[in-house]
Parts: sequence; C-alpha cells; structure tokens
Amino acid sequence: MLEASQRSGIQVKPQGNSFGAEVTNVDLTRPLNDDALSALLGAWAQHSVVFFPEQELSLHELESFTRQFGEFGADPYIRPIEGHPNVLELRREANEKAKNFGSNWHSDWSFQEKPPAATILHSRVVPPVGGDTIFVDCYRAYEELSPAYRDLLDGLIALHSAKKAYGPDSALVSGEEKRSMSFQIDDSTGHVRSHPLVRVHDVTQRKALYVSPVYTVGIEGMADQEASSILDFLYKHMTQEKYIYRHKWKPNMILLWDNRCTLHNAEGGYDGHLRVMHRTTVAGGVPKGIF
Ligand code: SIN
Repeated sequence: MLEASQRSGIQVKPQGNSFGAEVTNVDLTRPLNDDALSALLGAWAQHSVVFFPEQELSLHELESFTRQFGEFGADPYIRPIEGHPNVLELRREANEKAKNFGSNWHSDWSFQEKPPAATILHSRVVPPVGGDTIFVDCYRAYEELSPAYRDLLDGLIALHSAKKAYGPDSALVSGEEKRSMSFQIDDSTGHVRSHPLVRVHDVTQRKALYVSPVYTVGIEGMADQEASSILDFLYKHMTQEKYIYRHKWKPNMILLWDNRCTLHNAEGGYDGHLRVMHRTTVAGGVPKGIF
C-alpha cells in the first residue's frame, strides 16, 4: 500500500540539517486533495519550514490555501489589504529608510493568548540583493542544551508583550522615518502574557524553546537581571549557525513556517530596492508546557 506522500506525487527536498524543506510537484492555486494535504502536513511537521517555488497565487487563492490549515489568525496593529481582512502586505519601498518590518528574532504574536500556529508568506516583489528570511530550529536548540539546564528551563514561565515592538517608545511608533506599511496601534501593547518557556508542540509532541528578543520581556518570579542572564544566554545559543535555515527568495514562492517551534528574522540589506510580500496567519492554541 502506498503512503499518502507517494500517492500525492509531492516531492520534498530537505535543506541543511533537515530544518526547512523545498516542496515541489504541487499546485497551490487549487484545493489540495486528502493525500496532498496529509503529505504536506507530514513534511511541515518534520521540517518546520516548507517552501514552494513557482506558485502564482491571487489573494483569493492565498486565502483559500491558508484556510486548508485552519482558521485565520488575528493579526493586530497592521492595517490589512483593503477587501482582504486576513492578508497583510509587507511592503518596503526602494526609497524607504525605516528599519524593515519583522527585523530581529521573534515568533509571531507570541504575546497573544493563542498565538498563530503558522504564518504563510507569498513573495510578490523580491529585491536583487538582501531580504532573506532566516529561521531558528527551536527544537534542536532546546534538545542540545545539557539535561540540568533543560530541567531548569522546563519549569519556567516566560512573559511576552508587544510593548518593545509596538508600544509608545518603539521605533515603529516614535521613529521619524516614513513607512509605506500602515499601522493601527492601540493600548493593548502594554499587556503581558505568560507562556511556558519550553513549549510542547501539539502535533509532534517535541519540546521547543519559546522565547524571543522581540516579544519576551521577562520570566515569572525572577528579577529582571536574573531573567536577562537566562534569556541573553538562550538568544546567543539559539541563533548559532547550526540551528539556522536561511531562506533566499524568488518571486512567487510560498513559504509556510511553524511559530510553535521556530523563530524568524527578516533581514534587511536591500535599500534602494522594492520588496513586497503578502502574509496570512493560521490560528493556534494556547501554548502547552511540560508541567
Ligand atoms: C515577518 O513576518 O516577520 C516578516 C518576514 C519577512 O518579511 O521576511
């Protein structure tokens, strides 16, 4: 009996370290049949970040593709594309000077009670230099810590907030540089949310580090300096080259990543060139810990 992945014909090519994979021989403009969806979900669970070259999707097709993974996530603070309330346009003009959106390591909206399980990006205009998106494998970063340090982390609760990225003192709100993306900031940016520092993935049941310099603002029960010494160590540890997949864009790629077990960082380096991405998110559950 053939497996769903064989029946579907989908080809999966793992990238370095098996973190990240290219998926071909599938047309994402049409609904996936059961075999194709199951093969794709299997590849995604195994590789955490999957990308599909040469996929020319309309906004409507991008919305339909997203809905095959679940409900849309709730995207705060950024005005969506008119007529498409669940699609954001990440746009930076050639003459724009403000720091690019999504720079620095984060897992999307981790300050929410139920952060998105997945994010999907569709590349529309890709600059000739720079503009890579880089990813951290938060499973391996956790698994390769010493057992004693993992035991310490397993019992901790991290605090997440949007205040550094979107609060009144953030570069986004107080910065003077003009941006082509349109933001709608409200007073929820100061809210603080608690999530397990080590997250158990609802599908794979693997454990992953769930903290980031953009959204983590402390550790429950610890003084700021105590928390910083753990978090700063973790950020240095997680972002070692051996845990990274670097995605180089071409126009009309679809990329799907798992926010439950990865961090990402949108690199700049393309001043003087336009970059345009369309982005959707898939709703997730309340992050579960080990306790
Ligand atoms: C983001 O969603 O954080 C931005 C990703 C990118 O533009 O590459």
